Amino acid sequence: MNKVVIIQFGGTGDLTKQKLLPAYKKLYQNNHRFSLLCLGRKYDTREHYLKNMVDNSKEYPFLEYVKYDLLHSQDNNTIANYIKKENAKEVIFYLALSPELYKKAISVILKTLLMVGDIKKKIIIEKPFGFNLISSREYNNIILKSFSEEEIYRIDHYLGKEFVQNLLSIRFHNDLIQAVWNKNYIDHIQIIMNEDQGISHRVEFYKKVGIVRDMLQNHILQIVAYLSMAEPIDYKQKDISLEKTKILRSIRKITDYKLGEYQSLRKEQKRVKIPTFVALKLFIDNFDFAGIPFYIKTGKMVNNFKSIVYIEFKSFNTKLEREESLNPNAMIIEIQPNMRIDLTFNIKKPDKAKETCPVKLNFDHYKTFRINTPEAYEQILKRILDSDKTIFPCFREIEESWRIVDSLLDSKNIEIYSDNKLPKFAEEFIQKDKKSWYV
Ligand code: BG6
Repeated sequence: MNKVVIIQFGGTGDLTKQKLLPAYKKLYQNNHRFSLLCLGRKYDTREHYLKNMVDNSKEYPFLEYVKYDLLHSQDNNTIANYIKKENAKEVIFYLALSPELYKKAISVILKTLLMVGDIKKKIIIEKPFGFNLISSREYNNIILKSFSEEEIYRIDHYLGKEFVQNLLSIRFHNDLIQAVWNKNYIDHIQIIMNEDQGISHRVEFYKKVGIVRDMLQNHILQIVAYLSMAEPIDYKQKDISLEKTKILRSIRKITDYKLGEYQSLRKEQKRVKIPTFVALKLFIDNFDFAGIPFYIKTGKMVNNFKSIVYIEFKSFNTKLEREESLNPNAMIIEIQPNMRIDLTFNIKKPDKAKETCPVKLNFDHYKTFRINTPEAYEQILKRILDSDKTIFPCFREIEESWRIVDSLLDSKNIEIYSDNKLPKFAEEFIQKDKKSWYV
């Protein structure tokens, strides 16, 4: 068997603790075989590391930890020795690092590879990929000096979510849906990602990044692309990326937006404004989607934790004379915390001759399949181990996404909103178009 070693840079970070270690554990329990070396500055020993990073250290027999300071370490042997000791045939370098550290990490990786000799290699890069268009190109060039495009996995973990992947199946495996998926029938689309947690445990990261780089440039624009791309010739990365890139290139630069920061963070961080909420409207300038507004909002410390896509269809309503106005048909795709699809419908009220009322047709993933679907990072890591690049964005998509959000990146116009409430400005933002948020 091909023995695989994963080298985890950023091994003591929040991402590793919250998402990666649980995903590695699950993969291991499901008989994927690999060894993992976590590198980080915070803890001295493996024991200390596991005590602070995981619930049950017995579940991590595959994990080794080394205290390692990427910027200052003179140690060029540890990683190479580990790879040799494990007798690995393949090594995966995972950079869960802020982009300004890529250069240093790549130089360490190069030295390591020289010591290890001939070995299959891959590199995983977390989002945000850079801080803007220019820096993302610089970072990409740095990585391309040592890795071929085939070996690079740029992560957007939202694409590992079951119901984000499902967007393509819902659209392209249902002719009925495909027939109405255009400007003739769709009135508008909403993408909503409400998070009820704040960012006080990673303020330093958020000062550099903010909500636009953290959520909009990647997760949300990827969902926009999935919702509006043409059907790919094949379900391969090359074909999917081609169609996504066409859409991203057709998105107009965003001009209509509002940014916010939740109140308690403002109090904590007196000097720097940190955007934690964004609401915006965007348009796709292509034939099928021309004129359909996409209303988007995402924010931290907002109640009603939910990620949903809401598609409202046009109401023509001309055939019958009616006293009451009908509810529009809408499709609601809930990505999390539940995985469900609702279709709103109007039906006749019992005992009434012509009065109707809205009802929902519902599909619930858990009720139907009764299985625990793997978490996003588990799906992502499994694909990487299997060398399957279907759900990884290519660099062209990342470049286009930076172009789209460029005007928002340095905006200083950031309004305050109360913790656990939808910002008032976000309501006004959509009301001016005579619409309202679904949640
Ligand atoms: C990450 C962001 O990419 O996605 C976080 O950095 C955010 O700020 C997270 O909370 C949301 O992902 P999930 O899978 O927890 O909904």
